Amino acid sequence: MHQVSSRLLPAAVFGSLLVLGAPFAHAAATAPYLGVAPQGNAAQGAGDVAVCASCHGQHGNSMAPNFPNLAGQNYNYLLKQLEDFRSGARQNATMSAMIQTVPPAPGDANLQNIARYFSSQTLNLKANANAATPKVPFDLAKEGYLIYQGGVPSHKVPACAACHMPSGLGNAPMAIPTLAGQHATYVENELNLFATGQRHNSAGHVMEVIARRLRPEQRKAVAAYAEVLDPKLIEGIGPLDYATYVKDRASQPLPGVLASALAMPVKAVSKKVENKAAGNKKAGNK
Ligand code: HEC
Ligand code: HEC
Repeated sequence: MHQVSSRLLPAAVFGSLLVLGAPFAHAAATAPYLGVAPQGNAAQGAGDVAVCASCHGQHGNSMAPNFPNLAGQNYNYLLKQLEDFRSGARQNATMSAMIQTVPPAPGDANLQNIARYFSSQTLNLKANANAATPKVPFDLAKEGYLIYQGGVPSHKVPACAACHMPSGLGNAPMAIPTLAGQHATYVENELNLFATGQRHNSAGHVMEVIARRLRPEQRKAVAAYAEVLDPKLIEGIGPLDYATYVKDRASQPLPGVLASALAMPVKAVSKKVENKAAGNKKAGNK
């Protein structure tokens, strides 16, 4: 009924899939949570989430770097994770126990309500930007920026932006999560879990393959960039248009940590980025 047609996929995703050689497109076309309009009832979900706030924060804005923000995450991704915790496809001692506090219901209605609730909350990016101490070192975020927006062609790592979007907002119909503003500690931890196979629930094992191809320090860098990635700055800018992006950034400095993490020396970064883009083209990694 609501199948995702291949026309909805950005061309960049196909580029990545070719690089990966993973059967992701097939897995994507058959999974039931893909491409559906959000179901569930946010107000009813709110009743089940009181217990979640101690770790995931008020309205899903988590204060602790090892607990993911859930606010504003897309419905399809949230629902998939909740179902995966329930079925055991994704295992985590804490969450496997927490999911038991949500009573089972026909058609997973309770999980739908919870996913609807958190997806309708607003992610508070300012919580990161206003922190007194920068959590993310500048050099690390800069290296992460190059990996995120340009990939690592020499190791067949596609640009994260191809699937998670240059803005970091993810791709809701495909259940690809928002990474923008997610805690660096959490993102790095998930990449390590994917790389070691302890988390193995991504469609076509696409994330397991990608994470394994990154060195541990590259996982740390790209995670640092995710935390300071502000979608408002990048929306509408294509993956190969970094030079423009960097110039725009330089003319509109931001407050707080975002400014220090993203105010890169324009000339140096543009050069690196151009090289990276040329390398991507050569490697067929658009
Ligand atoms: C005691 C702390 C704790 C509580 C309470 C808790 N969680 Fe979690 N949650 C975690 C941790 C830790 C993770 C990361 C698990 C991992 O690394 O796989 C997580 C992950 C998740 C994820 C996956 C997010 C993502 O980006 O992939 C969802 C969804 C989630 N929790 C929902 C809930 C809901 C709904 C509740 C309440 C019913 C809840 N959690 C209560 C600690 C908690
Ligand atoms: C071909 C598409 C694709 C590419 C390219 C890709 N991802 Fe993903 N990513 C996914 C999908 C799909 C998921 C959801 C996995 C699941 O269902 O559990 C995901 C999940 C994740 C998660 C888990 C988020 C959470 O909240 O738990 C992280 C972290 C992540 N990706 C980081 C990256 C990084 C960093 C890169 C680039 C080095 C990257 N991804 C490239 C498709 C992709």
